[in-house]
Amino acid sequence: MKAPKRIGILTGGGDCPGLNAVIRAIVKTAEHDYDMEVIGFLDGYEGLIQNRFIDLDVKDVSGILSQGGTILGTSNRADPFRFPVLQGDDYVYLDRSQEAVLNFESLGLDALIAIGGDGTMAASAGMMERGLPIVGLPKTIDNDLWGTDQTFGFDSALGTATDAIDRLQTTAQSHHRVMIVEVMGRYAGWIALGSGLAGGGDIIIIPEIPYDLDAVSRQVKQRNSLGKNFSIVVIGEGARAQGGEMVVKKRIANSPDTVRLGGIANQLAAQLEGLINIECRVTILGHLLRGGSPTAYDRILATRLGMEALHRVYNREFGKMVALQKGSLTCVPIKEVAGKLRKVTDEHPWVKTALSTGVCLGVDPDHPLDDAFVEAKS
Ligand code: F6P
Repeated sequence: MKAPKRIGILTGGGDCPGLNAVIRAIVKTAEHDYDMEVIGFLDGYEGLIQNRFIDLDVKDVSGILSQGGTILGTSNRADPFRFPVLQGDDYVYLDRSQEAVLNFESLGLDALIAIGGDGTMAASAGMMERGLPIVGLPKTIDNDLWGTDQTFGFDSALGTATDAIDRLQTTAQSHHRVMIVEVMGRYAGWIALGSGLAGGGDIIIIPEIPYDLDAVSRQVKQRNSLGKNFSIVVIGEGARAQGGEMVVKKRIANSPDTVRLGGIANQLAAQLEGLINIECRVTILGHLLRGGSPTAYDRILATRLGMEALHRVYNREFGKMVALQKGSLTCVPIKEVAGKLRKVTDEHPWVKTALSTGVCLGVDPDHPLDDAFVEAKS
């Protein structure tokens, strides 16, 4: 069979540090190892549907390794099967997958590398059924993609969150306050747990363990009784109180996942101030975690995955997402990734480490953990 000579790439979903590093790695490997041409669709699947793209050769990717964001632009609304189109004041949703296929064919492409999170993988699974030869490549700060042990973007987000916690620690100490730091991560607590551990958080609340307000206030009071008159609480945006709901900041009708989370830290602060005699202050880090230069770890991971995706394209291993498992590169069927999330589990070493070092995970230390992880098990 003829070797692939011309491929398209796109970046979909929320951006993250490392996207430019992966674009650069793909373009460089394409030229260096395989003499392949690369074009980049703009704004994720939207560019493929609307035939908007740029040519990419090595001079186009020179100097972008360390840059945040994506030179291709991205969109977390461009589902080819449910593409939002404004008609009057309202959106209607159209299946534009066939236009995407026609554009792909008319451009003479042999493969598509779809770089994205669960939404992009779900769209890619559908486009594969329409006949597109796709290799998936995982990214997201949330680290919640099933099938891979880590996504690039996560380590950079952890670094930014940890730096913020370090800064909040000194002011918390000076003013004898409880500082509540809310981090992104959607329905998974990886960023909260990782940055909480790295930043020395006293209480870490993740979406997988609905928190017990009394246990949280007991932890703050206990620290006080030991002369520690400040506390750092790190909370994931998808967290909720036992018997409570996640806090939805807004709903975006034309997005595949309409829910945008945010604000649980304010709710916790209001609840907690009624139970303790200490002021609480809230910092919501939000999109700060998505910006900035990728860490060295993310640059290397993105570069490895970009190279691996090219190898898979060359070998015509379509329908797979390249992945990192136990430190090695492998791949998993895109269909198996779509629609699944990888959440924190009670078995994870970071959970055990937190508990052994006296961190409160939002419930009393004697609370059976497998019961607490209701979300992860449902
Ligand atoms: O998936 C990445 C992420 O940053 C989540 O952590 C967050 O919940 C969401 O995207 C925010 O999306 P938007 O950029 O549409 O506000």
